[in-house]
Amino acid sequence: MLNKISALLSEVEEFTADSAQKVEEFRIKLFGKKGELTLLFEEFRQAPGEVKRELGQKINELKSKAQSRINEMKQALESSSAPASTLDASRPGTADSAGTRHPIATVRNEILAVFRQLGFTVAEGPEVEDDWHVFGALNFPPEHPARDMQDTFFIEKREDRENSILLRTHTSSIQVRVMEKSQPPIRIVCPGRVFRNEAISARAHCMFHQVEGLYVDQNVSFADLKQTLLYFARELFGASVEIRLRPSFFPFTEPSAEMDVSCSICGGKGCNICKGTGWLEVGGCGMVDQNVLEACKIDSQKYSGFAFGMGVERIAMLKYQVRDLRLYFENDVRFLRQFTAAV
Ligand code: PHE
Repeated sequence: MLNKISALLSEVEEFTADSAQKVEEFRIKLFGKKGELTLLFEEFRQAPGEVKRELGQKINELKSKAQSRINEMKQALESSSAPASTLDASRPGTADSAGTRHPIATVRNEILAVFRQLGFTVAEGPEVEDDWHVFGALNFPPEHPARDMQDTFFIEKREDRENSILLRTHTSSIQVRVMEKSQPPIRIVCPGRVFRNEAISARAHCMFHQVEGLYVDQNVSFADLKQTLLYFARELFGASVEIRLRPSFFPFTEPSAEMDVSCSICGGKGCNICKGTGWLEVGGCGMVDQNVLEACKIDSQKYSGFAFGMGVERIAMLKYQVRDLRLYFENDVRFLRQFTAAV
């Protein structure tokens, strides 16, 4: 019996297992109903009194060694089958890089926000238009040079000119669409992309953005136009800015003017941004020509209105002092990342 015990003892000491199942099998082999240890204990009961003491000690020693060996193997297998997680909850997170709003969108939003304060609503329209909405209704004479291929991208030229299909050259076409569908009071701002057949350079592009505005109601006067533009300029460029209106010509307004704002960079003293003049040109404006109102079925005896239009890139150039227009369209993220926006 002693031999049997020492044989089992060395078996226990040498026992290793590569799976939980093998550990369990070994446990049953020793501790099961017919296990080696169970049998040993039965044998022990029948052993003669004088050897019992020594035998008892040996069997108990075997039993505790077997138990601890089995536990050891179980633990080793558990920790290796579930490897330590690679998750380190204390590591700082990697920040998501959110994109930034395009500077042209930011400036457009700022312009629209100023006019919203004055009660203007935003109206939009198609980029692919017909001649009537871009030129005809706006009092362009049939042979006006803007109707030439050199200025306008035509998609389809038709014999009956006013049905020709083209890319809009200004967002005044939206104003025509709104006037055709509704009666005064009309107070809208029209943002959008426009297209002109121009050679691309630092100062000109074949595609750019405009915000145009229109106000038609009873008794709208040139003074209203002036005050609206002054309010706009001061909101956008600062409270000390002045505006200047220079006589000009557009087929759809009479009288017409070019609008300048005093240079916010040098305060009007003259710098290289305003080319020493102290003034920056931002857009055109005027009183809506009666012919335009009539073309849109608005009674020109009862109503009058003013309109204005400005280039978003032009204002963005002044605001950010980015002199090359092309940068706005190349979408180089190194350029775009330099702009952050609240609106
Ligand atoms: N539509 C003109 C343009 O594109 C701008 C403008 C709008 C001028 C309204 C006067 C009145 O240049």
